[in-house]
Amino acid sequence: MSGIDYQQLIPNNVDLSNNRRLQRALEKWQPAFLDWWQDMGPEGFQTSDVYLRTAVSTDAEGWANFGFVQMPEYRWGIFLADREKDRTIGFGDHAGKPVWQEVPGEYRNVLQRIIVTQGDTEPASVEQQRFLGKTAPSVYDLRNLFQVNVEEGRHLWAMVYLLHGYFGRDGREEAETLLERRSGDEDKPRILDAFNQTCPDWLTFFCFTTFTDRDGKYQLASLAESAFDPLSRTCRFMLTEEAHHMFVGERGIQRVLRRSAELTKEDSNGDPRNLGGIRLQTVQKYVNYWFSYSIDLFGSEISSNAADYFANGIKGRYRENDLWEDHVAIEASKTLKVLKDDVLVDSEVPLRNAMNEILREEYIKDCELVLKRWNRALDKLDCGFRITLPNHRFHRRQGLYAGQFYDLEGTPITEEQFNAKKDDWLPTDDDRLYVHSLMKPVYEHGKMANWIAPPARGINKNEVEYEYVRLDG
Ligand SMILES: [Fe+2]
Ligand SMILES: [Fe+2]
Repeated sequence: MSGIDYQQLIPNNVDLSNNRRLQRALEKWQPAFLDWWQDMGPEGFQTSDVYLRTAVSTDAEGWANFGFVQMPEYRWGIFLADREKDRTIGFGDHAGKPVWQEVPGEYRNVLQRIIVTQGDTEPASVEQQRFLGKTAPSVYDLRNLFQVNVEEGRHLWAMVYLLHGYFGRDGREEAETLLERRSGDEDKPRILDAFNQTCPDWLTFFCFTTFTDRDGKYQLASLAESAFDPLSRTCRFMLTEEAHHMFVGERGIQRVLRRSAELTKEDSNGDPRNLGGIRLQTVQKYVNYWFSYSIDLFGSEISSNAADYFANGIKGRYRENDLWEDHVAIEASKTLKVLKDDVLVDSEVPLRNAMNEILREEYIKDCELVLKRWNRALDKLDCGFRITLPNHRFHRRQGLYAGQFYDLEGTPITEEQFNAKKDDWLPTDDDRLYVHSLMKPVYEHGKMANWIAPPARGINKNEVEYEYVRLDG
């Protein structure tokens, strides 16, 4: 049964009305969530009607439901992908045994920590993006922002359901704490660094949704392999929502690139800034910055935690069943590049200890496809510019390459060499200020800010000019 019961206070497809204790606990958490949304959700627009999609079922057609809703009235709820009959553990030391419907005592702490860490990113991103509505480049973009925001709120629900449902009193306390931490707050920061950065402009937002939401995709995909079946099912459904967030980011950057290329051609000095556009090189710097920040999120290249997660069946590889043959991975090893006396040398690591790196590699492959699509679009404009992805060693603050210096190709360099090139590679204060200066809202239906091209088509077969947000509400 994948249908969702919307008659309930908390829409769900987990038969919540037959679990009164859990239902009551979640109904107690719900007002706290709504308070958090009013405080930390999108600034303004809370009484505007927004054209949003709401899941009606968790199968492929479940997304067909679009309609106008005021954000605080959005039907956040608990939606799990269907239970797979006779599902068995797909990897690690318990491979082949039945999956767990309850949390095994010995993995309780670690599972809880993983769920809390994932859960924390969801409200964090809403907080990071809360002022963007004030500077939306179009009503179309405004609607997409809000769609992402309400769904990140829904992802918080997904994790809170697990905490309440499977982790007892500790879980309930963690669920409260998820509403208490604040992105960027000195005393109560969000758990992961990238989620404490500000998101002051739309170029950052599009980079964030391209690269950081895509990290989310890979974390969710590896948890979708988990032996803890409720976690697996939750993540499988979250992945369908995540796809839209990455679409918003990828197409957003593509539209900026297009407009930048057009304005570069138009200006007699080849500087789009003279015409109120963004330089292609500036977009490249933002990409360098957010790509490097996002790959930090995968954790250290060599990790005994990652090895344990794999051994215990908690976190698998991306598409474990389709892409790998050896699901135990006890004999195999992986070669990593390690800096020794200023030279990169090969180092053999037991495969299980390299699981973070293996997931990161899949992520990078996915990013390379995005770049390919951006470059295909740039080629068509014949502007002579191609966008590139920096090497995974560039500008890292976590893991094996943190504290070391590499150029964009991943060649080791000195700190002085890095500092001499830094302003060419990463956004400078001037770049940020300039991008910031362009952030003026365009709320007229169908109009676009000058620094971004219109999208190829609207949402759900509507025109680009469609009234996606009714601002008078
Ligand atoms: Fe999310
Ligand atoms: Fe997302």
